[in-house]
Amino acid sequence: MSPEARREVLSVAEGAVEAVAGEDIVADGPDGDAGSSGARRPVDPGAAPAEEAEDAGLRPRSLGEFVGQGQLTEHLQIVIEAALKRNQAVDHLLFAGPPGLGKTSLAGIVAAEMGVGLRITAGPVLVRAGDLAALLTDLQEGDVLFIDEIHRLHRSVEEILYPAMEDFKLDILIGKGPTARSIRLDLPRFTLVGATTRTGLVAGPLRDRFGFVGRLDLYDVDDLQAIVTRSADILGVPIDTDGARRIAERSRGTPRIANRLLRRVRDFVEVRAEGNITSAAAVDGLEVFGVDQLGLDKVDRAILDVLCRRFPGRPVGLTTLAQCVGEEPDTIEDAYEPYLLQQGLLQRTSRGRVAAPRAWAHLGLTPVEPTLL
Ligand SMILES: Nc1ncnc2c1ncn2[C@@H]1O[C@H](COP(=O)(O)OP(=O)(O)O)[C@@H](O)[C@H]1O
Ligand SMILES: [Mg+2]
Repeated sequence: MSPEARREVLSVAEGAVEAVAGEDIVADGPDGDAGSSGARRPVDPGAAPAEEAEDAGLRPRSLGEFVGQGQLTEHLQIVIEAALKRNQAVDHLLFAGPPGLGKTSLAGIVAAEMGVGLRITAGPVLVRAGDLAALLTDLQEGDVLFIDEIHRLHRSVEEILYPAMEDFKLDILIGKGPTARSIRLDLPRFTLVGATTRTGLVAGPLRDRFGFVGRLDLYDVDDLQAIVTRSADILGVPIDTDGARRIAERSRGTPRIANRLLRRVRDFVEVRAEGNITSAAAVDGLEVFGVDQLGLDKVDRAILDVLCRRFPGRPVGLTTLAQCVGEEPDTIEDAYEPYLLQQGLLQRTSRGRVAAPRAWAHLGLTPVEPTLL
């Protein structure tokens, strides 16, 4: 498409869509992942804006460098090799999984392995259909378009995406009312890579248009240890096996947290120790930053403390719990509870939250029998 033609299409698309998209959507920018509150906590799985740049150097750039997720990477390897052999773009891919597990990294890896360009955007940023049209018409043959938080796409934008994914066509409505007509433009064959924290949030029709859905699971300690070791090597920080192990154990199954804890421990050893990350240095360093042996921070422990010490054996409502620890109920539910639940430290009952047996043990207390009310 010539630049003039493209400009014309876009200005038309903008106008047409403005008329349709009545609802106001606030673009809050790509914040890495939904619900991320920046790196206020050392164990927050979301990325802080400043951290994205620092992380860039640690990102794996090829499937070979990508640690863990064995089955997923094996499938991807096959999909990529087959596409290369056929000299075609890869099928559209959807990556689903909690924040910080490597979805954005995988999008970059797919583009790199295919030797094509990568364009990055995020669901909440595409406010109008014209925003997406601008990106689509700017793609080169084979390029990867990465849409982070794809479950947060506006409906009018999503509708443009369907024919683009399926037939590589861009449908644009010109004019309004009875005189409106639609024109269809050819797009280059591209690969859409979507990322979402929960597949359940992606609309069925959109999900169905992906040729491959890859689920990322929390990493085990061995894989995290390999990631910490690799990152330390890139950062040029001396670390021994046990030091890497201690950091891995406290990383809540999440590479982004592993890298962040590594950076904090690096600061600590540069100031307080000889600069080497040993087991003792890692434990001391993380204690200074309030991270304990299960990777819990102050607030996590405060939550368990409320359940075990203040209301022993009694179910506690979310609002009460939130007030006791000085956080918003939403924050408790989205940021703190998932890991506590996953670790078997907290249980949700119809009457409220209760401490699970492991929580008592973690705080060094004897469990109190649940009160039957
Ligand atoms: N499998 C992996 N191997 C090595 N490092 C990883 C891996 N997955 C993630 N990381 C590291 O964790 C950071 C966060 O990954 P990212 O791809 O941004 O996660 P997501 O997009 O799922 O939130 C990256 O900067 C990268 O350094
Ligand atoms: Mg990401």
